Amino acid sequence: MQIPTLLITENKATLLSDGKPFLVLAGEAHNSSSSSLEYMRESVWPYLRPMHLNTLVVAVTWELLEPAPGRFDFSLPDGLIRQAEAEGVKLVFLWFGLWKNGMSTYVPEWVKQDRKTYFVMRNRSGKPVNAVSPLCGAGVERDAAAFAALMAHLRDFDVNRTVLMVQVENEMGLLGDCRDFSPAAEQAYAAALPDDAADFCGARGTWDEVFGSEAPELFMTYHYTKATQQIAAAGKAAYPIPLYVNAWLEQHPWTPGTYPVGGPIARHMDWWKKFAPAVDFLSPDIYLPDFETVCWEYAAPGNPLFIPEARPSQDSASNVFAAIGKFGALGFSPFAIETVGREGVPPDPSLLGGLNIMAEAFNHYRAGEYLAQSYALLGGMAELLCKYRCTPHMTGFTRGKDQTGTLVQFEKYDFCIDYMMNSAESPKGGGLIIELSEDEFLLCGLNYRVTPQPKNNDPSHVDYISITEGRYENNEWIPGRRLHGDELRILFREKPSVLHCRLMRFR
Ligand code: DGJ
Repeated sequence: MQIPTLLITENKATLLSDGKPFLVLAGEAHNSSSSSLEYMRESVWPYLRPMHLNTLVVAVTWELLEPAPGRFDFSLPDGLIRQAEAEGVKLVFLWFGLWKNGMSTYVPEWVKQDRKTYFVMRNRSGKPVNAVSPLCGAGVERDAAAFAALMAHLRDFDVNRTVLMVQVENEMGLLGDCRDFSPAAEQAYAAALPDDAADFCGARGTWDEVFGSEAPELFMTYHYTKATQQIAAAGKAAYPIPLYVNAWLEQHPWTPGTYPVGGPIARHMDWWKKFAPAVDFLSPDIYLPDFETVCWEYAAPGNPLFIPEARPSQDSASNVFAAIGKFGALGFSPFAIETVGREGVPPDPSLLGGLNIMAEAFNHYRAGEYLAQSYALLGGMAELLCKYRCTPHMTGFTRGKDQTGTLVQFEKYDFCIDYMMNSAESPKGGGLIIELSEDEFLLCGLNYRVTPQPKNNDPSHVDYISITEGRYENNEWIPGRRLHGDELRILFREKPSVLHCRLMRFR
């Protein structure tokens, strides 16, 4: 079996699993689920089976991997791999090492209890934060060694190459203040910029002199990127599969520290690319309502889009079409997947408050049911999606706030998309269109009406030659009814579906 890799060509990056393009249709498990294989067996896997996932995104924690310095216990990652193999799904591991949502809660006890060696950050009043400083060389070194041990173990143990990628840390950055005020950080902040930072920005002087009001945030970004590079490079040297980092996005109330300062936000992508080259891409965790804007920011040149966390609500069943169709995402993964797949598990409001996530993003009502249908549809035609990703022959869309529709443009025809009014009972409109040849299209999605039309300035009339409903199973088109007469109103209702159509122009 070939190891997972990213194939980079001029205009796209493709994830290869055993040498073949692989589209990740995933979900991320709750943070603590993978700390018990029995829990996974009883309370996770059974709820994933009807969801049509091909990948589970799941944590491996430093705390349980290295319970005593230098003594490793791989039974949890090994057990997860065996379970996933039995279920026929791939895995993405989340390395909860030094940082998880800005905090150091997943570090081993021997790190927690030795604050002298593994010193934490401090806020401006000198109060400690429960997060090891990225300037703490000893902490970064130990994390890098543990991560390298995990990756070396995966190289040897994971012979079926079930683990596709690994996320390095989780939503890094400092919460609660604009920068670290620990003694080590104070000293580094008052000094001149290190040479590599000075060369990068073409200026010399202290952080304040060079960056003014942006100095604290860029200081943190520099130190998080350097620490992450050390950790990621150690892992990659052991086993070079794709590695990525994920971001808690900038959002209301916007001031640095209300989102983790120094993390991989899109505004600082250039710093991450420069100083953490062992990381293959930066990923957004999208709980915000404006899905497409975030995708634009992260699907930047040289940064393939992968969405490791998306809203565990009905929105995901629609957003996945835009992620893949329009932004060529490598994959998509709503958070809390095992409870999404289970009716009647309410979100925990206290958790949402602490993480600055709107309650609506966690509204599981009928979310699993629709996501499963979108995934079944997309999974059945994955080969086609991989072929057309990142080409002008495929695009996608999802209803934005207050949006009534959109215009989708191809070489010879345009398509007017009108979103249906949706109730709480079904997701907002979303879909994707593939131009198979100049007059032949596949239309997919839910809750929208579509009208093909001539290009601007083209006086022709456009109409259908044929419309056939159907589905893809194992990448084979299975045709259903031929639609004419009363059925010739193309309405994508609440069930995600696919239509094949051929168009003609005449005068
Ligand atoms: C973002 C984090 O990355 C996840 O681990 C999780 O805590 C979710 N927020 C919300 O529950």
